[in-house]
Amino acid sequence: MQFPTRVLISVSFLISLLVFSSFSFCSAQDYIIGGGGGGDDDDEAKPAAPPPEQNNCNGIFLSYTFISREKELPRLKNATAQSWAFKSEALILNAGSTELKAWKMFIGFHHREILVSAAGAVVMDGSDFPVDVGNGTTLAGYPMTDLKTSIETAGDINQIQATVELTGTQFGIKPPGVPMPKTIRLANDGFKCPAPRRRGKRTMHVCCKKDPKFKVKAPKKTRFFPRQNGDLSLTYDIMQAYGNNYLAQVTIDNNNPLGRLDHWNLTWEWMRGEFIQSMRGAYTHTRDLSQCIYGPAGQYYQDFDFSQAMSCDKRPVIADLPADRKDDDKVGKLPYCCRNGSLLPTLMDESKARSIFQLQVYKLPPDMNRTALNPPQKWKISGILNPKYVCAAPIRVEPTEFPDPSGLQATSTAIASWQIVCNITRPKVKQSKCCVSFSAYYNDSVIPCNTCACGCDNTDTDTCNPNAHAMLLPPEALLVPFVNRTAKARAWAKIKHYPNPKKMPCPDNCGVSLNWHINSDYTNGWTARLTLFNWEDYPFEDWFTAIQLNKAGRGYENVYSFNGTRLPNIKNTIFLQGLPGLTYLMGEVNGTNPRSDPRVPGKQQSVISFTKKGLRDIDILGGDGFPIKVFFNGEECALPKEIPTASSGHHSRHGFMLLIFILALTFAFITDRFH
Ligand SMILES: *[C@@H]1O[C@H](CO)[C@@H](O)[C@H](O)[C@H]1NC(C)=O
Ligand SMILES: *[C@@H]1O[C@H](CO)[C@@H](O)[C@H](O)[C@H]1NC(C)=O
Ligand SMILES: *[C@@H]1O[C@H](CO)[C@@H](O)[C@H](O)[C@H]1NC(C)=O
Ligand SMILES: *[C@@H]1O[C@H](CO)[C@@H](O)[C@H](O)[C@H]1NC(C)=O
Ligand SMILES: *[C@@H]1O[C@H](CO)[C@@H](O)[C@H](O)[C@H]1NC(C)=O
Ligand SMILES: *[C@@H]1O[C@H](CO)[C@@H](O)[C@H](O)[C@H]1NC(C)=O
Ligand SMILES: *[C@@H]1O[C@H](CO)[C@@H](O)[C@H](O)[C@H]1NC(C)=O
Ligand SMILES: *[C@@H]1O[C@H](CO)[C@@H](O)[C@H](O)[C@H]1NC(C)=O
Ligand SMILES: *[C@@H]1O[C@H](CO)[C@@H](O)[C@H](O)[C@H]1NC(C)=O
Ligand SMILES: *[C@@H]1O[C@H](CO)[C@@H](O)[C@H](O)[C@H]1NC(C)=O
Repeated sequence: MQFPTRVLISVSFLISLLVFSSFSFCSAQDYIIGGGGGGDDDDEAKPAAPPPEQNNCNGIFLSYTFISREKELPRLKNATAQSWAFKSEALILNAGSTELKAWKMFIGFHHREILVSAAGAVVMDGSDFPVDVGNGTTLAGYPMTDLKTSIETAGDINQIQATVELTGTQFGIKPPGVPMPKTIRLANDGFKCPAPRRRGKRTMHVCCKKDPKFKVKAPKKTRFFPRQNGDLSLTYDIMQAYGNNYLAQVTIDNNNPLGRLDHWNLTWEWMRGEFIQSMRGAYTHTRDLSQCIYGPAGQYYQDFDFSQAMSCDKRPVIADLPADRKDDDKVGKLPYCCRNGSLLPTLMDESKARSIFQLQVYKLPPDMNRTALNPPQKWKISGILNPKYVCAAPIRVEPTEFPDPSGLQATSTAIASWQIVCNITRPKVKQSKCCVSFSAYYNDSVIPCNTCACGCDNTDTDTCNPNAHAMLLPPEALLVPFVNRTAKARAWAKIKHYPNPKKMPCPDNCGVSLNWHINSDYTNGWTARLTLFNWEDYPFEDWFTAIQLNKAGRGYENVYSFNGTRLPNIKNTIFLQGLPGLTYLMGEVNGTNPRSDPRVPGKQQSVISFTKKGLRDIDILGGDGFPIKVFFNGEECALPKEIPTASSGHHSRHGFMLLIFILALTFAFITDRFH
């Protein structure tokens, strides 16, 4: 059954390959036709005239113009390795009849570009310059986030168009070649962009139109951009505004069932010289008041007492207050504050899935106006051993409504609100923070965590091999720190006739590791044993782990020493947390006798039982019993590259069938005798 499907898939893949290649051939044709009149092959800068095509566009017109470039040091003979400083310009023009809110433009760079500045825009994922954009990047407008229409502004070009001046470094491509991006497009929802066309060698443009098929969910009439879904949603609400300062409230909502932060640090960048006078519900790690006193703030606020200011950093690092400040009159007394930076999934505790803090912000000229409000940019949030969040630029949304504090049936509304959406990114290879080892009752070797699963940056790779496969281990070796496993691994390899390399593989370097052990497999069900190891010297409070299996996950029955729940929204995933009183995963401690015993990790363990009812063709030994994804405190853990295999006696489907057949025969024979 599977074979023909695969053939079909590869045939359709071939067809799409053909279609795609003929398509790129077409666009190459376009370029020749379009470039007919061009002839601007020289490497000189040329002022960008508005392309005539924009008059034929009645949607959103985007263009990208390469302006100039210069060889950078070092000068190399190898043309592909030579770096160049380039300048280019991106333009976005609203040539349609509806306002474009919060514009976003994707530029498909592909010459290992590194952006150094982008005047008129910010990089969507909040990265600081210089930023590696070799795989393309999305820019969001800043300070001009919205583009009005020609109709409502009487054709004021400054309000309907934004230009972004880009400078950066790029590699390869000898002149007269021009390093153009692969593509440009509008990244806002509800628009369709054809492939861009080129005019000359240095300009490409595209006209994006509203997608008539795009349905806006809940077409509520709002003046602002609708709120977006994301794993983490932050809102920056202006609660009170005065001439030179305002009170803002920041709300952090965890919307992902597996999202989590511990001891979160939030940072952003003030774009207009602001500073934080005071805070409630949070504090900043550094104060550095000299930045105020010697900076523009000190010049403007001559008589201001900066010694009381909270932070003058352009990039303050903000952290939650510890619980003992919850009822502090000066800095506490705010709902959802003061949990020492923990943000849990709603399934664990709905009241801990939100954090709130407030700050008093002072502004600088020219913003000395009650209505001149600008949120900080480049938001970043991180925790210890948690998923990596990447945040988009703040987007102005409909003002948040708050229930009236006096309990009356009235709501108060923020003066202005911005939303910042952060999504979880999957850890890259060798950059996880936790890892998994596999074992099974039918194989006496454990498959350990991958070599360098959590990076080998602090490991001396002269003494170990960062690219070798991890060596199979005897089960008891999992209980000791990696540094003390060497002798065991070598002895095991010798007994089992496994390869025994001169240079040992490097450690996994993970703070937390999990062992998934297939405990038993019988006709109606099977069991697994999960063990968590904490190799850090601090404990994890309210730990959780989530195990995603493939179809076998549907058979989840029970877990004995943890509190287990099947997640409703994520397929075949079991959510496990400590039972009351066992919500701490303790840290690593000294052995009983530190001189002779290795250090001991913190451990928690439970058996999990599964049924096979309603799951035909399930093959636990063949791999169905091993997880396809494992999360610890929200972070996706690195999985081993292989699973334990059974020696021929154990794992033969025919053998298994034969066994059932014999059992059935015996049963028939026995029952027969009693008739
Ligand atoms: C030129 O540089 C590229 C990229 O750095 C490298 O892959 C290539 O091997 C180099 N070629 C020669 C001939 O050195
Ligand atoms: C670009 O994509 C390649 C292949 O997917 C990946 O190896 C590389 O890390 C990516 N670079 C960046 C800056 O994301
Ligand atoms: C975050 O993910 C949601 C879907 O979960 C998606 O709609 C949204 O565009 C993403 N945001 C960013 C900035 O990637
Ligand atoms: C609060 O978090 C910090 C780390 O951010 C930690 O050092 C401290 O022990 C924690 N305090 C409490 C009371 O848990
Ligand atoms: C197990 O976890 C669920 C979900 O968090 C919770 O509702 C339930 O009370 C917990 N049960 C026990 C015994 O702790
Ligand atoms: C404040 O700014 C708004 C728009 O930015 C402007 O219309 C208004 O006149 C300004 N008020 C003062 C007092 O400068
Ligand atoms: C938060 O920032 C402080 C100060 O920069 C740092 O010591 C701490 O390790 C950070 N914590 C996290 C979770 O990133
Ligand atoms: C653990 O052992 C080391 C020496 O091996 C010693 O320096 C340290 O104080 C011990 N820690 C505790 C908590 O006993
Ligand atoms: C474990 O490894 C550490 C670091 O190499 C070493 O100091 C310690 O003596 C070892 N412990 C045992 C029991 O071998
Ligand atoms: C155990 O599994 C490993 C990895 O698949 C395999 O190399 C080894 O031969 C297996 N051992 C036995 C006894 O089957």
